[in-house]
Amino acid sequence: MSAAPGAAGPVLRAESLVRSYKISRGMLRPPAELQALRGVSFGLDTGHTLAVVGESGCGKSTLARLVTMIEPPTSGRLLIDGHDPAEGPATRRRLREAVQIVFQDPYGSLNPRQKVASILGEPLLINRRMSAAERREAVAAMMAQVGLRPEQAQRYPHMFSGGQRQRVAVARALMLNPRIVVLDEPVSALDLSIQAQILNLLVELQDRYRLAYLFISHNLSVVRHFAEAVLVMYLGRVVEHGGREAVFASPQHPYTRALLSASPTADPARRGRRIKLVGELPSPLHPPPGCPFNPRCPLANERCRIETPPLQQLNGRLVACHAVEEGRAD
Ligand SMILES: Nc1ncnc2c1ncn2[C@@H]1O[C@H](COP(=O)(O)OP(=O)(O)OP(=O)(O)O)[C@@H](O)[C@H]1O
Ligand SMILES: [Mg+2]
Repeated sequence: MSAAPGAAGPVLRAESLVRSYKISRGMLRPPAELQALRGVSFGLDTGHTLAVVGESGCGKSTLARLVTMIEPPTSGRLLIDGHDPAEGPATRRRLREAVQIVFQDPYGSLNPRQKVASILGEPLLINRRMSAAERREAVAAMMAQVGLRPEQAQRYPHMFSGGQRQRVAVARALMLNPRIVVLDEPVSALDLSIQAQILNLLVELQDRYRLAYLFISHNLSVVRHFAEAVLVMYLGRVVEHGGREAVFASPQHPYTRALLSASPTADPARRGRRIKLVGELPSPLHPPPGCPFNPRCPLANERCRIETPPLQQLNGRLVACHAVEEGRAD
């Protein structure tokens, strides 16, 4: 890669990412357009963690698919280590090694007919010129890094517990020395005690390899311990983006407050400011005009129903809310 390693600036930049899907409405009607992402921008630095939170359907996994280059954005731009994957297939191939993903369900993402040795060896077989002995050695070293025993290399995914399977998935993601790892709900399917073990492992690996994590989660108590910065999404838009302290100690957007109120570990001292989420999440096919949150927002007024608030720097973070801007949210 031509960019100097460790060059200044974030290892990942998302600039106004938009992703839309055509939804068929039968033979006689033209397809509808669903905008899963409606202009998402952020930066992520080497060695840091950015959490992405929001209700089901807000676009978290769509963002993950764009960042991992499984799908291209409809518009907007992604810069990985200063390079745009849209530059061409050769750049894309290089960048795909730099960005890896771990999914919620390792059972679905690991081939049940492959032994762990071959699951972990495969990325090297395809992307590196290594002898079989070198590959075996690299696999054994990575297994040790993630807390798996050498003899487990000869086992199939179904022979592992959920936590161990997630260790295999993490190991596979790290085989090509990525700079960025997208973690899409990596511990949501695991028991609480196992969740903590996997999160600790992820922290250790981040320190050791200076990994940047894009950590997708609906569990705010996990995010609180794990991420330095938080991006709150609603219907494909960023509604609040700031440092962990700012977002957890004084959430500004009514949606962020509602999410925190709903989180069981939220600070009881903040009970007075509880906001209950009312109403259904609108369909992304028909987002409301104005602020996307206005139909469910206790602070919404006429302006909120007409004008979409821009994401702007307010009270020490980025927030998209007329009520916060006008000082009506306190
Ligand atoms: N390939 C696709 N074709 C059509 N619509 C899609 C496609 N992928 C996602 N969508 C729609 O885009 C929106 C965002 O989906 P996405 O999977 O990104 O949400 P999410 O935040 O990851 O949700 P969850 O928390 O349930 O995983 C949803 O309305 C979804 O139905
Ligand atoms: Mg998802």
